[in-house]
Amino acid sequence: MEKIGVYPGTFDPVTNGHLDIIKRSLVLFDNLIIAVAENTPKQTFFTVTERVEMLKICVKNYSQVTVESFSGLLVNYVYQQNASAIVKGLRAVSDFEHEFQMALMNRKLFHGSETIFMMTSEEYSYLSSSAIKEIALLGGDVSSLVPEIVVDALRMKI
Ligand code: COA
Repeated sequence: MEKIGVYPGTFDPVTNGHLDIIKRSLVLFDNLIIAVAENTPKQTFFTVTERVEMLKICVKNYSQVTVESFSGLLVNYVYQQNASAIVKGLRAVSDFEHEFQMALMNRKLFHGSETIFMMTSEEYSYLSSSAIKEIALLGGDVSSLVPEIVVDALRMKI
């Protein structure tokens, strides 16, 4: 049976840290679905269509990766996709509490829900989408932290 993983997030915008998790999680799954949240409590800088498009360009060389947007409960989406597990990245201890709560809540909402945590690579442990937006808005150089398509998209938006 095919093993399908779902990597959910806001991806506003995708960073090299996210791409690192995507590439490394491919050893665990036959197919990985990157699930871009449509409705999020966060005020997003990029529209969901823009976030999905940027990710699609970034993963175009990986035949086993697809990018989709989703709305509603993550566990319902994971069930509909027949996925075995949710993949999340952990950067620091500070991520743990939030992630732990979400994983347990997702299991409460759907009993079969499993979450796999991947430790971020050291060089991306300080990276976040908010930091990228802030630096870009203040005129800083983010080209070593995000894919080229994101550098261009940030420049266009700003
Ligand atoms: N590299 C770089 N950044 C990373 C990272 C990595 N490896 N891993 C996490 N991050 C950062 C992101 O850039 C983001 O930064 P920001 O806060 O500056 O924007 C931050 O970590 C959080 O990521 P985000 O993608 O917003 O994830 P989240 O943990 O807040 O969860 C959903 C987002 C979509 C998965 C979650 O809200 C959800 O499941 N929504 C659906 C509704 C639902 O089911 N709710 C019940 C949940 S229990």
